[in-house]
Amino acid sequence: MTAGPGRSAGGRGRDGDPDRSGAERPSGRGSGGALPRPIRLADKLALFTEHWSPRIVADVNDHQVKLSKFEGEFVWHSHESEDELFLVLKGVLRMRFRAGDVVVGEGEMIVVPRGVEHLPVGEGEVHVMLVEPRGTLNTGDVRDARTVQEPERI
Ligand code: NI
Repeated sequence: MTAGPGRSAGGRGRDGDPDRSGAERPSGRGSGGALPRPIRLADKLALFTEHWSPRIVADVNDHQVKLSKFEGEFVWHSHESEDELFLVLKGVLRMRFRAGDVVVGEGEMIVVPRGVEHLPVGEGEVHVMLVEPRGTLNTGDVRDARTVQEPERI
């Protein structure tokens, strides 16, 4: 729930609105209040450096949009009932499946179907945006040191 008071991207908005980067979770459905705001992925990515530690940046119906940074090998796992979308924002993601590897380049995305074992590998550092049902665990059916039970919202 940390909103990060130290955000200092002030004045970078094209329209000169210093508050432009303040995209947060919309509050009050149908209140007719605040406009939805653009979410600057680069600004959000600048808020953390850890690998394999997804952050939530938005909610869409019952799905969440997350940002994560990968480097090296993660852990083989699958998700019993969730498909996972990975959009590569920067770098090269190698998604390993038992049947072979798929290389996902910058600007490309891949959907891993539920139930399919996969091992994400960052070839160097990779920045990824994920879309998956709320509560999807990063390590799926596996628990290890990199399991994040409650991703931080940024
Ligand atoms: Ni997964």
